[in-house]
Amino acid sequence: MAERSPGVAVVNEEKSEVCVQKSMCQDIERVLISAEEIQDRVRDLGRQIDERYAGEDLLLIAVLKGSIVFIADLMRAISIPHEVDFLATSSYGASSTSSGVVRILKDLNEPIGGRHALLVEDIIDSGHTLAYLTRLFSARNPASLEIVTLLDKPSRREVDIDLFWTGFSIPNEFVIGYGLDFNQKYRNLPYIGVLKPEVYQPDLE
Ligand code: PRP
Repeated sequence: MAERSPGVAVVNEEKSEVCVQKSMCQDIERVLISAEEIQDRVRDLGRQIDERYAGEDLLLIAVLKGSIVFIADLMRAISIPHEVDFLATSSYGASSTSSGVVRILKDLNEPIGGRHALLVEDIIDSGHTLAYLTRLFSARNPASLEIVTLLDKPSRREVDIDLFWTGFSIPNEFVIGYGLDFNQKYRNLPYIGVLKPEVYQPDLE
């Protein structure tokens, strides 16, 4: 049998799971949601989406970049025919957070008028991004517009958002992995981890 590559761990062994990517393991405080728990929940969500949209013209819309991993798994957990499209937004600066204005860097390729649009997000925090996108897309007259998010941080909410499906409701911790980043890194971790505070607050060291 070929020797296992250095750094490749068995995902179900919780201790080694943190170190699937060796170069990052020293930055992770703990695993919050394991790869297995994520996959189980994504399968559930896929089944629920199958039921709700059976026979409908379904378009999944991923909000880049964080949701790329989630949508890649979710679309394979959905068995009914559907299309996917992508949208890129810019993060608003801290000063404009309360205005809820989000800049669209890349709009959809597909029209959504008369179609069942399902926005796919990795995380809802303040809610400003989704509040803005809901207003923007509602004006394009879809047959329906719903939101599925892998993670929700309800304690951080500043504006109300109508979430149709939530994978996991989580506490207010700095989470990375499964698409979520810090400084554009850690998106490739297969689990949701909590980042050590000294990584994002170097003054703590
Ligand atoms: C994250 C996430 C949402 C938004 C949620 O994106 O993917 O789009 O923040 O925050 P809110 O509820 O406070 O508006 P981010 O700006 O980190 O970009 P990324 O997806 O490219 O990592």
